[in-house]
Amino acid sequence: MGKDVIVACDFAGAEQTFAFLDRFTGSKPFVKIGMELFYAAGPDIVREIKARGHKVFLDLKLHDIPNTVKKAMAVLSGLGADIVNVHAGGTCAMMSAALEGLTRPDGTRPLLIAVTQLTSTDQQAMEQDLLINQPIDRVVMHYALNARKAGLDGVVCSPLEAEKVHEACGRSFLTVTPGIRFQDSDKGDQKRVMTPAAAKAAGSDYIVVGRPITASDDPVAAYERCCAEFIG
Ligand code: C5P
Repeated sequence: MGKDVIVACDFAGAEQTFAFLDRFTGSKPFVKIGMELFYAAGPDIVREIKARGHKVFLDLKLHDIPNTVKKAMAVLSGLGADIVNVHAGGTCAMMSAALEGLTRPDGTRPLLIAVTQLTSTDQQAMEQDLLINQPIDRVVMHYALNARKAGLDGVVCSPLEAEKVHEACGRSFLTVTPGIRFQDSDKGDQKRVMTPAAAKAAGSDYIVVGRPITASDDPVAAYERCCAEFIG
């Protein structure tokens, strides 16, 4: 898989999701399914979107004891997801177990990426709630290195961190970056944003784009604009 635009389908159910995807008559965008849609629609939503010809990033951010994550990953792998993720905070042992669980009988497996620190966690929350007294940039980079050490394929990070992650973990270690906005679009609740073109220049491998596409009057045109800026 190369550079691509992943559309965050943050919808409340299957009906809305299919109505949205039906608008894409000439392309099959890479789809991100998050917790809301997965918990509302169930595992069939993954099978159905795959059957329609889309690639799927299943963004469920697993974090539990290694054995539980390994078994859960085997189930997600069986659904045919192309990318899945875990919290790097679950430790290297948990990430290695996740990889083991993901590997299918034929030796193939979805890509596995790690969430480092959530972008909603700031320095103050990390120190006060998690008792981590290190600069957040250092913690993010340490978690990215742990993910690489455990054999994962990449991390979810801000496009602003993509270059540093590649420097520390290597060019082939994937950076999947949300927080994307067009120059002229509303930031919403995202604080640190980049345009698709700037994310490309920063070296992001995949951009995750939600509302600039899903809330647009013309989602197909917005998606095509993202692709034109990011993939070229
Ligand atoms: O609508 P918007 O483009 O902000 O959507 C971004 C998507 O990426 C959402 O599904 C959001 O949950 C996800 N995400 C994020 N920041 C992270 C991790 C995931 O915005 N650090």
